[in-house]
Amino acid sequence: MTNLNLKKYIIGANTPIETTTGFTPRVYFNNSATTLILKPAMEKFCSLLPIYTYIDVPSSNSEIITKMYEETRDVILELVGGDPNKDIAIFTKNSTEAINVLAQVFFQDAPDQVVLSTTMEHLANYLPYKTRMQTELIKIGENGNIDLDDYVSKLEKYQGRVKLVTVTGASNVTGVIPPYYTMARLAHKYGAKIFVDVVQVIQHFPFTMKPHDCEAHIDFVAFSAHKAYSGLDGGALVGPFNFLKKYLPLDFGSGITKFIDSSQIIYSDPPKKYEAGYPDVLGIITMRAALQFLMKVGLANIDKYERRLYKYLLCKMKEVPSIKIYDDNSPFVGIPYISFNLKGISFKTVASKLGLDYGIEIGKGTVGADLYVQFLLGLSNEEAFEAYNSGKGYGVVRISLGMYNTFEEIDYFICALKKIACGYPPK
Ligand SMILES: Cc1ncc(COP(=O)(O)O)c(C=O)c1O
Repeated sequence: MTNLNLKKYIIGANTPIETTTGFTPRVYFNNSATTLILKPAMEKFCSLLPIYTYIDVPSSNSEIITKMYEETRDVILELVGGDPNKDIAIFTKNSTEAINVLAQVFFQDAPDQVVLSTTMEHLANYLPYKTRMQTELIKIGENGNIDLDDYVSKLEKYQGRVKLVTVTGASNVTGVIPPYYTMARLAHKYGAKIFVDVVQVIQHFPFTMKPHDCEAHIDFVAFSAHKAYSGLDGGALVGPFNFLKKYLPLDFGSGITKFIDSSQIIYSDPPKKYEAGYPDVLGIITMRAALQFLMKVGLANIDKYERRLYKYLLCKMKEVPSIKIYDDNSPFVGIPYISFNLKGISFKTVASKLGLDYGIEIGKGTVGADLYVQFLLGLSNEEAFEAYNSGKGYGVVRISLGMYNTFEEIDYFICALKKIACGYPPK
């Protein structure tokens, strides 16, 4: 297989974009932030509009919509290798909301517990714990990945108090994949559960939570639909029913009770207990269409193609004068994301030139992973604060590819980047 040829399924992948020198076909390299939208997902969305109605009321339209909505839970479990007899998928707006639900649940379990997170996390997988409980960060080792010695020493140090270990399934900055199955084995050995943030995983490579009786089983995962080609709100927290049924939700309102009067509340079982208010039915069903498309193409095929794109991109980027690529020799990079800086040119300038002069949309700054970017740039807290205070800020330029990007787009980008590095004008 040489090319997946998926561009034809994407809306707006080649829409002309205005630049300082005229219109050019757009190059979208910011898939980590949000992906462009799959046509089949939008077609599903549009097909629902004429029959759109309330869920769970007696009408044939409602039956169709309710069935598609509820079946999305099975699609999610299939995608992440959850156990339909033990795990449930709770619908959320996005992964941030899902992780806040998880943090709230663990907080109820033991407010004085210690959560082990890592320096590599997006803030969505750090702040929900940090603001509720003592949260310790596992260091990044010499090899650029999670320092397993530091992890074990923290498990030892806080033995008995660590109930949750939380780690990303792939970095949104460098594409590094942490050893989450090894971390799961260790977490379980020390009596803790593990959450893997699969928001940068499910659209790139096959993932499984593994069976519950496996030592490397992943207890919880969460993701966002808009990063998996749906373009709309929608996401999920997946975890064990028996555990989740014990706690109260993050949000309260209608739909979460079986019975209520002025003297008592009987809560619904999960997932309903965690889904207060009217759900984003259309968003959820559109997410289902996007996830089914990914499974149909095959995550293994997507992975294979994207790894080729990544290798080509990395090799070409190394030729750009005065470039600093973060973790360019890492054997752990598993998704096609590269963060870099050009010596002597601010990340903001490089990003603006790429976007405004060449129509290449990319990510810039701390890209939501402030602690990790600070670490990659080797900045102390004082230096980071000084950069913030001075208004200069600190950060990287990030290229993040998706399944529909092409080698030709990479060539165009490299040509633009070389011109920027050498101070040449765009045309
Ligand atoms: C690794 C990771 N986790 C969580 C999030 C948060 O995703 P969302 O804003 O869709 O909730 C992001 C967003 O970029 C991310 O990259």
